Amino acid sequence: MSENIRENHRVSGFSKFDKQARRRWLLDHFLPGHDSGDFAFFDATNPDLQEVVDNFSENTLGNFPLPFGVAPNFLINGKVYAVPMVIEESSVVAAASSAAKYWLTRGGFEAEVIATEKLGQLHFRWGGHPDRRAALFPELERRLRHVTSGITARMETRGGGVRGMQWKHLPAVNEQCYQLLVRFGTGDSMGANFINTVLEAYATEIELWSSDSEQLNARERDLEVVMAILSNHTPNCTVRTWVRCPIEQMNLAGSGVDAADFVRRFCFAVDIARQDPYRAVTHNKGIMNGIDAVVLATGNDFRAVESAAHAFAAEGGTYRSLSRCRVVDGIFHFELTVPLALGTVGGLTRLHPLADIALDMLGRPSAEELMCVAAATGLAQNFAALRSLVTTGIQRGHMRMHLQNILSSLEATVTERKAATGFFDGRTVSHHGVRQYLEKLRG
Ligand code: MEV
Repeated sequence: MSENIRENHRVSGFSKFDKQARRRWLLDHFLPGHDSGDFAFFDATNPDLQEVVDNFSENTLGNFPLPFGVAPNFLINGKVYAVPMVIEESSVVAAASSAAKYWLTRGGFEAEVIATEKLGQLHFRWGGHPDRRAALFPELERRLRHVTSGITARMETRGGGVRGMQWKHLPAVNEQCYQLLVRFGTGDSMGANFINTVLEAYATEIELWSSDSEQLNARERDLEVVMAILSNHTPNCTVRTWVRCPIEQMNLAGSGVDAADFVRRFCFAVDIARQDPYRAVTHNKGIMNGIDAVVLATGNDFRAVESAAHAFAAEGGTYRSLSRCRVVDGIFHFELTVPLALGTVGGLTRLHPLADIALDMLGRPSAEELMCVAAATGLAQNFAALRSLVTTGIQRGHMRMHLQNILSSLEATVTERKAATGFFDGRTVSHHGVRQYLEKLRG
């Protein structure tokens, strides 16, 4: 998609459009080459989709549909995106959209990928002396690289491959416990299959080396591979995203809250999450509301992303907020650094028709661009949650969506919905209360 097509892809009142109008708008602005027929995959009863989905897993009984939404107006690194989000929690897409719109007129989100390195580990028991590693490693490394050259060659043409390896001793586990820690580049793929294939080939070769290398004495021939697998801890595959603007522009229209007061309370809230793990976990959960939704929509592995993010948040021994906030010379600055091992080729990204459409909607981004989009969505989500928490409280927005869910469960008509929405504006929403209201309305 050309830069020109993406320019000015802003929209007002998207949430008021009906589903057809939303699809039309996306086709016109973000999905060139698609037509309305492509949305057939959004239909849970589509037999083609069913066949694909059934093959992803085992013992399937059916599907577990989640809503696929879109948060428009995301200005990230000067480009406007409509961000696809898959999430069941009410208010998350609305909050992301509202934060995106807020920042659209304040310079948008900036993001930069800090590094894209992935790790893999081969653990083994070895009878040799740890000091002999320096002498033995060159031959071992040469053999490992040689035996996988057929596997790594294609990845190297895409800018990836094996970036380095280290032979570590882990005496805390056991005097004979060793680890080969391997650093990988995986281009635009998440790389799990590539890394695990290389590591398993290493596992075979290291055992062969221990049996036939002329460098080894009898004790050194005692080698047993325990396991070979990638590490989901990816502290060197990180992205930083931030928003900034003068404090006086941080107004909240119609809230009655003064901009400076809002910024002071906002930074106070972030500082609490920097220090208190109980608050930090909830704070980071808000960030992951945004990130996971993009990760899911684009067919990436949200469990891997979650475990990496929380390990990163706990680096240094205390669990802290992933975002931080500061005011310097009257400029509000809010930023997030997070590890994100994402792919835009391979895996589910092509196999799942909806992930394929989500990536088309984003203009077929590189893995690095997707890292920026997902991180910015996480920061937007965090901003929206804190904005509510330090002003109106979170329940007001939640209750609006909660009411709609209760009305659906009670099969409210369009007219009843309208009446109930007006009636409960500013009132406490409960299932019992809404039921009573509808009963009265229905006579
Ligand atoms: C709810 O899903 C997320 C929040 O709890 C995040 C936060 O408290 O910052 C609202």
